Amino acid sequence: MASQAAATISGDEAYAVIDPKNYAAWDSALDLFEKLRNDTPVVRVENDEIHDPFWLVTRYDDVMRMSKDNKTFLNNPRSVVFSLRAGLDFAKSITGGSEHMVASLVTFDAPTHPKYRKLTQDWFMPKNLKKMEDEIGALARTTVDRLIAAGPEADFVPLVSAPYPLHVVMQILGVPEEDEQRMLFLTQQMFGGQDEDLNKSNMANMTADQITQLVAGAVADFEAYFAKLAADKRASPTDDVASIIANATVDGEPLNDRDMAGYYIILAAAGHDTTSASTAGAMMALAQDPDQFARLKADRSLLPGIVEEAIRWTTPVQHFMRTAAEDVELGGQQIAKGDWIMMNYISANHDERVFDDPRKFDASRSPNRHVAFGAGAHQCLGLHMARLEMKILFNELLDRLDSIELAGEPKRANSTFVGGLKALPLKFTGK
Ligand code: HEM
Repeated sequence: MASQAAATISGDEAYAVIDPKNYAAWDSALDLFEKLRNDTPVVRVENDEIHDPFWLVTRYDDVMRMSKDNKTFLNNPRSVVFSLRAGLDFAKSITGGSEHMVASLVTFDAPTHPKYRKLTQDWFMPKNLKKMEDEIGALARTTVDRLIAAGPEADFVPLVSAPYPLHVVMQILGVPEEDEQRMLFLTQQMFGGQDEDLNKSNMANMTADQITQLVAGAVADFEAYFAKLAADKRASPTDDVASIIANATVDGEPLNDRDMAGYYIILAAAGHDTTSASTAGAMMALAQDPDQFARLKADRSLLPGIVEEAIRWTTPVQHFMRTAAEDVELGGQQIAKGDWIMMNYISANHDERVFDDPRKFDASRSPNRHVAFGAGAHQCLGLHMARLEMKILFNELLDRLDSIELAGEPKRANSTFVGGLKALPLKFTGK
């Protein structure tokens, strides 16, 4: 139990922390986190009606401390993503008691986690990714062709920032283009969605039993799909990451179908919406600042700074959760063993103690030690890939576009977890 003196928020303020619409509104979420960072940087969020209480951590230093202390702050047994109580009950009903819908890197702690992480760690290092540059470059070219053909006005999200990272991640998983939409649909069915424009599975109109069947069916479909893919990759391995997983062993045993599917699913799910969000954010920043666009077009040495700042400024993964392994003091609050804790990356990346003028997009920010990729043992496995994808795409866009400006109001998705733009209307000239 938390001590009597625990700092607590409830009612509307607690609801604002968990309301997907507040994240779409963005400035109101930033205002809320700014207030909390200053008044109650570690605070208990209570609203017994709809969610289990959890601690909200908003300052950069505290989020870093939690990320790096993987002994005290565990990814088990509670969900690593915030869910309403109904969602957690639902996950338990599907899995037979676990809050984790799928077992994967994000749901393992040591000693299991490092054994699985080690399997693909080298594959995701820059030295190995170099060999992907030509393939990614070809995808970037076709993507920009599509944008230019749709001009002079078009929505950047469905044409560029959504499909491009999806193609890249499906390519490394060995999923042929004709199956991409099916994979996307399956992930959407499994993880549901908080935004009515993005959630194509119509769960809102279904009964609990129908949803359970749908999700259980999606998990089974995934397993069957990837079991076949893995068999192909064992028979004729290529140099993609799917072949590594298909041929991997842990403690001398090959991965079973369920573990293999979990590995593929986490890569498929983690690899596209995230990079889409930072790509769209970077484009919005350039469309809003023609001088910056012109400078970058003339001097590509500025590109890494733009990419890094876009990742901080958008913070596509808005939080992850941890569970306290023991009683621990954090930010002056006494956290009890078993308590559920939210590391809020948006807030940490806007902490004025670390980032001057944090709401400003400042491509020359240096150092820019944001926490958008997390830190510690679970730090994003795909961070080099995300940066590489963005650099290749923006080089192509800068070569081909002569001007860009906003052609309407950008819109953000309703989401507490992975968030970002769902519409970015642009007007542009190019060839
Ligand atoms: C801008 C794009 C991206 C952002 C902002 C992002 C962010 C994150 C964050 C915050 C975490 C959790 C870190 C932690 O718990 O400390 C994570 C984990 C992970 N990410 Fe990313 N990610 C991005 C792109 C990618 C890509 C392209 C891939 C792979 C194709 C990927 C694969 C993963 C995996 C597998 C994990 C789990 C790692 C583990 O638990 O050991 N991510 N990512």
